[in-house]
Amino acid sequence: MDNNARYQNFLKNIYVGINGELYSPEDAKISVFDRGFLFGDSIYEVTYGENGKLIFFEDHIERLYNSARLLNMEIFISKEDIMKQTLQTLKAAQIPDAYVRIILTRGESELSLDPNLSYHNNLITIVKPKPIYSDKLYSHGLHLIISDVLRNDRRSTNPNAKSGNYLNNVMAHQQAKEKKADDAIMVNHEGHITEGTSFNIWCVKNGVIYTPPEKSGLLKGITRQKVIGICREKDFNLKIDNFTPEFILNADEVFITSSTKGLMPVFKLNETTINETAQDRPVMSELQKYYNKIIEIELARDEYCYF
Ligand SMILES: Cc1ncc(COP(=O)(O)O)c(C=O)c1O
Repeated sequence: MDNNARYQNFLKNIYVGINGELYSPEDAKISVFDRGFLFGDSIYEVTYGENGKLIFFEDHIERLYNSARLLNMEIFISKEDIMKQTLQTLKAAQIPDAYVRIILTRGESELSLDPNLSYHNNLITIVKPKPIYSDKLYSHGLHLIISDVLRNDRRSTNPNAKSGNYLNNVMAHQQAKEKKADDAIMVNHEGHITEGTSFNIWCVKNGVIYTPPEKSGLLKGITRQKVIGICREKDFNLKIDNFTPEFILNADEVFITSSTKGLMPVFKLNETTINETAQDRPVMSELQKYYNKIIEIELARDEYCYF
């Protein structure tokens, strides 16, 4: 299938809300003067719904507000309205297991960098079926590369703001594809591992679990926060500290976390095979069981249901 045919296929099952109105995907349009389009002056969240219930919705809305704070972006819409509009698109879509993207831009302005010219936001909510990842990916794992595209420094666009500026990540992902890998992780200007293009990264060495700290320059993933919580509550040996590519290439286990993927193993990093079966990943397997329990509890809550 060529890319245009893929795109037409993608449009068949997608639902869009813009500022409270529902649109067919063909008619879902934003002004060319929107600052998100002009400057990447936008923030966003991705979460998902399972069985008609949104997962960790409050955490994602909190992070949206934190992204706005880090970028000094004024939010003119109320939190309740953002949540209401998201649920409205979900209700229209009627997709039980849904992928949800919430985008908030600094709205239109004249062609000037000056963010003070902003007077409203554009809120776009996009719903489509949640991607299904194969059992093989969860058992065998991902092939990642360590990209030479740097994650941006915290003193520039802070990576902890989930902004519309993902070009470094796009380039790192492209590099992975060129090398026939699934995706990429990125280092910072000091050569420390930060995170993946759209996921957080973890490794295990001699029974100790490692994940990079916020100061390395990363997005504090909601899934990362949940796994950190599990480690603390269940007394796993966790070290949130900087580490190098050499360290992770010599790890016993490597895995990623993200909202849509949960915990997913990495079987190969650059050309180094880490391990290929669940038996070789006892720590990740245990964390995964605890994480699945947290999801079960979340699913049993009857808030933010759209069916
Ligand atoms: C750069 C980056 N890091 C990490 C994550 C994982 O975050 P979460 O667990 O909230 O999905 C994402 C997900 O969107 C991301 O884009």
